[in-house]
Amino acid sequence: MFKILEANELTTNIYQMIVEAPRVSDACLPGQFLIIRVDEEGERIPLTICDYDREKGTVEIVVQAIGAETHKLSKLKAGDYLADVVGPLGKPSDLCEESVEDLKKKKIVFIAGGVGTAPVYPQAKWLKEQGVECDVIIGAKTKDLVIMEERFKKVCNLHITTDDGSYGRSGMVTKALQDLWDEGNKYDHCVAIGPMIMMKFVCKLTKELGIPTIVSMNPIMVDGTGMCGACRLTVDGQVKFACVDGPEFDGHKVDFDQAMNRMKLYKTEEGRLLLKAQE
Ligand code: NAD
Ligand code: FES
Repeated sequence: MFKILEANELTTNIYQMIVEAPRVSDACLPGQFLIIRVDEEGERIPLTICDYDREKGTVEIVVQAIGAETHKLSKLKAGDYLADVVGPLGKPSDLCEESVEDLKKKKIVFIAGGVGTAPVYPQAKWLKEQGVECDVIIGAKTKDLVIMEERFKKVCNLHITTDDGSYGRSGMVTKALQDLWDEGNKYDHCVAIGPMIMMKFVCKLTKELGIPTIVSMNPIMVDGTGMCGACRLTVDGQVKFACVDGPEFDGHKVDFDQAMNRMKLYKTEEGRLLLKAQE
């Protein structure tokens, strides 16, 4: 059993939790994910690790309550327990494998969309700890949905944009990226984490601008163990599994339309049968 030490609602329907899991916090690196189960009968929920504290033996998760299981999770309070916290799973961010000297030569930009803002945080924080500067663009529909602003300000050069212009710049993240580029920020590495449609359009733009781009395909995962097949995707013409081979991939090589279509079909029983028949 894994004790929840803190549980807060960050904004409407988005919850943050700090959980005691020393073996995970000891071993994890930015970009990796966890599988949690609320109780013995619970479904597995794959969630990117949003922060970790090795000294305290804790990991932090941020979750949007969208289905039955995540709603159940969102109701838990500090002092409650999770049945399982398994991890760290998946491969760490490629950035962790580069030398600090090489990282310092790069102008890195993270694009963080909506709830996808939370998994960007450990990467920006890790870079800051290595003495590497980076820019982060947080995009949200409206001011109230911007999360973790104060924490990001401490680890990066932060740019906020809202679709309705209620806070920061106005427009979607792609507009902010284009504007920053036009203002002279010639990025040479981009990491985009957020809704699939956002990652698709960020990659379209960064391809035009010639910025290598990494995306996180966490949203298509279901069980996160390589067993269910839900997270199958095509990268550079090859079949990959987001949970085993990723979750991060070269965004310019990902077939987003196929991945979004699979995600849509996987939501219904009929769709799942159709996918099985096609395999
Ligand atoms: P949202 O719909 O509010 O979008 C967030 C931002 O993405 C917008 O403000 C906008 O700037 C940008 N965006 C959206 N559509 C775009 C488009 N067509 N072109 C350019 N930019 C666009 O996001 P939300 O509702 O908070 O996101 C929820 C989604 O995030 C879920 O589907 C979840 O699966 C996904 N998510 C992904 C990850 C990951 O690892 N990739 C992690 C957590 C959540
Ligand atoms: Fe089930 Fe990857 S999430 S195989």
